[in-house]
Amino acid sequence: MLAFTRLFMLCLLAAAPYAAVASPVAKSYHESRRSIPAGWTPVRRAEADIVLPLRIGLVQSNLHNIEAYLLDVSHPDSPNYGNHWNAAQVADTFRPSNETVDVVRSWLVADGGIDFQRISLSGNGGWLQVDMTVDEVERLLGTEYYVYENLDSGAEHIACKGGYELPGHVSKHVDFITPTLHFDVSLKSRRSSKARRRASMASSSFSPKVGNPFKDIQSGVSNCSEQLTLDCLRALYDFNYNPVATDRNTVGVVEYDPDHYVATDMDLFFSTYSKSQVGQRPKLVAVDGGVLVDYGDILESNLDTQCMMGLLGPKQEVQLYQVGDGVEFKDLSFNNFLDAIDGSYCTFEGGDDPSFDAIFPDPAPGGYKSKDCGTAKPAYVISTSYGYDEAQLTPAYVQRQCTEYAKLGLMGTTILYSSGDSGVAGNGDACLDPDGTVDYNGVIFNPTFPAGCPYITSVGGTQVDPGASVTDPESAWMVLDVFYSSGGFSNVFAIPDYQKSTVQGYLKNYPPPYSTDICNFTASRAYPDLSANANNYSIGYNGELAPVSGTSAAAPTVGAILTSINDARLAIGKGPIGFINPAIYSPFFRDAFNDITKGSNPGCGTDGFNAVPGWDPVTGLGTPNFKKLLAKWLVLP
Ligand SMILES: *[C@@H]1O[C@H](CO)[C@@H](O)[C@H](O)[C@H]1NC(C)=O
Ligand SMILES: *[C@@H]1O[C@H](CO)[C@@H](O)[C@H](O)[C@H]1NC(C)=O
Ligand SMILES: *[C@@H]1O[C@H](CO)[C@@H](O)[C@H](O)[C@H]1NC(C)=O
Ligand SMILES: *[C@@H]1O[C@H](CO)[C@@H](O)[C@H](O)[C@H]1NC(C)=O
Repeated sequence: MLAFTRLFMLCLLAAAPYAAVASPVAKSYHESRRSIPAGWTPVRRAEADIVLPLRIGLVQSNLHNIEAYLLDVSHPDSPNYGNHWNAAQVADTFRPSNETVDVVRSWLVADGGIDFQRISLSGNGGWLQVDMTVDEVERLLGTEYYVYENLDSGAEHIACKGGYELPGHVSKHVDFITPTLHFDVSLKSRRSSKARRRASMASSSFSPKVGNPFKDIQSGVSNCSEQLTLDCLRALYDFNYNPVATDRNTVGVVEYDPDHYVATDMDLFFSTYSKSQVGQRPKLVAVDGGVLVDYGDILESNLDTQCMMGLLGPKQEVQLYQVGDGVEFKDLSFNNFLDAIDGSYCTFEGGDDPSFDAIFPDPAPGGYKSKDCGTAKPAYVISTSYGYDEAQLTPAYVQRQCTEYAKLGLMGTTILYSSGDSGVAGNGDACLDPDGTVDYNGVIFNPTFPAGCPYITSVGGTQVDPGASVTDPESAWMVLDVFYSSGGFSNVFAIPDYQKSTVQGYLKNYPPPYSTDICNFTASRAYPDLSANANNYSIGYNGELAPVSGTSAAAPTVGAILTSINDARLAIGKGPIGFINPAIYSPFFRDAFNDITKGSNPGCGTDGFNAVPGWDPVTGLGTPNFKKLLAKWLVLP
């Protein structure tokens, strides 16, 4: 799926340092890019009189406190544990300050020569907006705009060269500055839908792997290393629960068009493993025109929905957040979904970045002619089995999105993402070069996103070893020389407090044999947080039951378990568990996981990390033991 390096607001770092021009105020690059994405080439200078509707994303208030706020409601030792915030509290707390608005607006007037009247503040205070010509913007931001052409599609895109500058006193009040949709679309020619379909598939990531269909279907727990059934998962994680608060409880899986589940495959799965669910479907929550199309991939959606619905049984409704109108999906991103479940994110922080996110309304024929902004309610548990490499996105972009996960956590939502299937490498085994560019022959570890965001829960993979039974300890998921549970350390996010002592203990007892040039482990967010089986799930696929593997399976499995814990808490008048990381890393939860101590996650020409006693960057804290976790969470307020 997700949209990689495509339609960029590209700012090429100039080869030579900027000429030191006499200037009353010291300036420096506010944002810059290292290289042009493959396939794009500059064709001409942008005409000086083109009007750019400039949008300036303002720095929010109190963001430096967000980890403390989140710990306050999520740490089991906090007196405010479980006192989640409402949306208005979140919006008020993080609204940019009047000082921020004033500083940036005064700069536009003084340095940009912009009449005060031309500048507007978005209704929610998050953005300043002003229409300016290319000529005006070039002078204001100390840069040059070019029109770039995509050699494949002929699409054109406007971008600045060499980064853009802001005076120091302004820079600290600005997240980033973007061109707008209007500007973007006026230059962009659209690909034929066939080409777009191909483009989407080429960039799909964390795709689960499927083997040959089973000839001989076994039920129960007799062959869990080869045919992982719902019974296998229940036995492995001590997970038997009859929900009682399904009228209040909510859970969702997120899928991106054109991925879609197939009803007949779902019924084949139910008729084999959970007869009472035959005919049951997830509740479709359409985001930005979300539809179940009849082209595109079915494996991911089949796996996620069958696994989660089967584990939860017939009583708990599962919501399917289906994102995308089936036409515009090349750039569908987590932000498109986040906009729909949080109207304040959509508008307050300024909506999407045309560099990375699909833009709605979609002007293409048949496209969704609206934009979903706060239209869907976030479920208490949301599981997503897609991801990026952190290095594909800019730090400003990932930080902004990561903050949104913290806000959802503040409001009581548990966000689960699968960690990835490539060990210490990124998607498709890509690694990094010393300058940070993605390189298949690189030797530097390539962390995934949003695994590196400290405000989501990252789920790695395990397996029942060949011939082992469900009572034997599992190992890290390893399909030799092919797939491994992703884990490691972020290059953007610092280590959060809640995992400091755990990860420092690991580094002390099992120091990684790598230099910090290869793996940034000294002070970075470490992942995954926990794990679950990722191997040979027996899933309905193309009319047969077939073995499907990937951390894609682990996330919905953990999602079903946590949803059942929410059910038990809601039933006795408590709230949902929300952001779980501070709890699961705390000493109180220490014995609630099955520790995984075998296996590793090679990549980038190394052996990766080993699973060891305690937390490790392969399987995290281990796999959940539902009964033990439930007992802990029932004690918490
Ligand atoms: C910020 O500005 C708004 C609108 O001008 C005003 O209503 C509000 O009182 C100001 N807040 C502070 C803290 O000065
Ligand atoms: C387990 O399942 C695999 C795959 O279907 C099959 O080849 C194998 O014979 C089964 N093993 C047993 C002991 O039934
Ligand atoms: C089950 O998983 C193992 C390890 O990944 C793999 O070697 C085996 O082929 C899988 N079984 C099937 C039936 O695909
Ligand atoms: C290492 O991670 C930290 C965040 O923990 C970041 O500030 C730093 O730039 C990273 N180093 C590299 C080489 O990516």
